[in-house]
Amino acid sequence: MRAWQISSFGIEHLQFVERPTPIPGPGEVLVGIRAISLNYRDLLMIRGLYNPRMKLPRIPCSDGAGEVVAVGEGVTAWKPGDRVAGIFMQNWLDGPLTAPRARGALGGDIDGVLADCLVVRETGLVGIPPHLSFQEAATLPCAAVTAWNALNAGDVKPGSTVLVQGTGGVSIFAIQFARLRGARVIGVSSSYEKLERAAGLGLDAGLNYRDNPEWDRWALDQTGGEGVDLVVEVGGAGTLARSLRALRFGGTIAQVGVLAESAEPFPVPMVLHKMARIHGIYVGSRRDFVDMIRAISLTQLRPVGEEFHWTQAREVLDKMAEANHFGKLVLSVD
Ligand SMILES: NC(=O)c1ccc[n+]([C@@H]2O[C@H](COP(=O)([O-])OP(=O)(O)OC[C@H]3O[C@@H](n4cnc5c(N)ncnc54)[C@H](OP(=O)(O)O)[C@@H]3O)[C@@H](O)[C@H]2O)c1
Repeated sequence: MRAWQISSFGIEHLQFVERPTPIPGPGEVLVGIRAISLNYRDLLMIRGLYNPRMKLPRIPCSDGAGEVVAVGEGVTAWKPGDRVAGIFMQNWLDGPLTAPRARGALGGDIDGVLADCLVVRETGLVGIPPHLSFQEAATLPCAAVTAWNALNAGDVKPGSTVLVQGTGGVSIFAIQFARLRGARVIGVSSSYEKLERAAGLGLDAGLNYRDNPEWDRWALDQTGGEGVDLVVEVGGAGTLARSLRALRFGGTIAQVGVLAESAEPFPVPMVLHKMARIHGIYVGSRRDFVDMIRAISLTQLRPVGEEFHWTQAREVLDKMAEANHFGKLVLSVD
């Protein structure tokens, strides 16, 4: 098999290597990977900022889709030719997250999908929607499931208002899923051009946060002073205070990301006074993934992204760091 691996941290240390092709053991499945999508986490992981103690060498990346090539003894769920994607946390199949279920994330605790094949247990896969290409399906395991659960956390209904930040992988899925639920979606971005593209996907109102840093006031204006029902928070420390100000009393912040830093103290009293709920999101279970796929299939929703060849992995990771992309960055394997 061919793979990208890191033996020391840094994009420049990604090496394209040959490894023995794994053979699926009892209960295991060999998948030929056809496409991989990048997440901001992969960038942090490769740079050694996500888990500096991660064991190396490691094949990075959590999100891949492909075709079953061979199955081990006793496998009943899959057969060669089935179109599948890996689940993010291989041990979190259903129910709430627990410490044992949180172990086993692809491209972190165990080798990931930046390779032309992968062996996992049969429960570590889901079938992908027939209307999606491998490239489109590869965008789903992390960013889409996370956005799906962020929307679940806010109990978003028709007529709710959802605020999204930026136009990266999670946020674009959040716009699409919020629209499926009949919500009004408002959002902020660094770019007018990206806001225009997001409007084409259903963003009802947008603001450039570089030119208008006080976007919390704008969000209040957009909701007649009441505040939004849900913020899909990808910024973290640097945006959380403004998200709280933009929120309605009793609203929810789905805490997803860590993109922005802040030196300012966090306004704790506002959490109490607004009776705000800050709900941490860590991707989701296999069950969440399957539920989301049902909705995607029914509505024929199509992920949004840009495609490259997987030999360009280093350049595409640099591109992610520059944050000029819109939606997902996808690598195709030939
Ligand atoms: N908790 C989880 O399970 C989970 C799962 C997936 C991702 N995440 C986290 O969520 C975050 C987003 O991940 P991603 O993969 O979607 O990243 P991504 O595709 O790289 O998207 C990043 C985008 O966020 C926007 N952004 C950056 N700084 C911002 C700020 N200060 N305010 C508002 N928007 C800002 C930018 O869009 P514009 O140019 O449009 O402004 C940027 O392009 C990351 O921190 C990632 O680690 C967490």
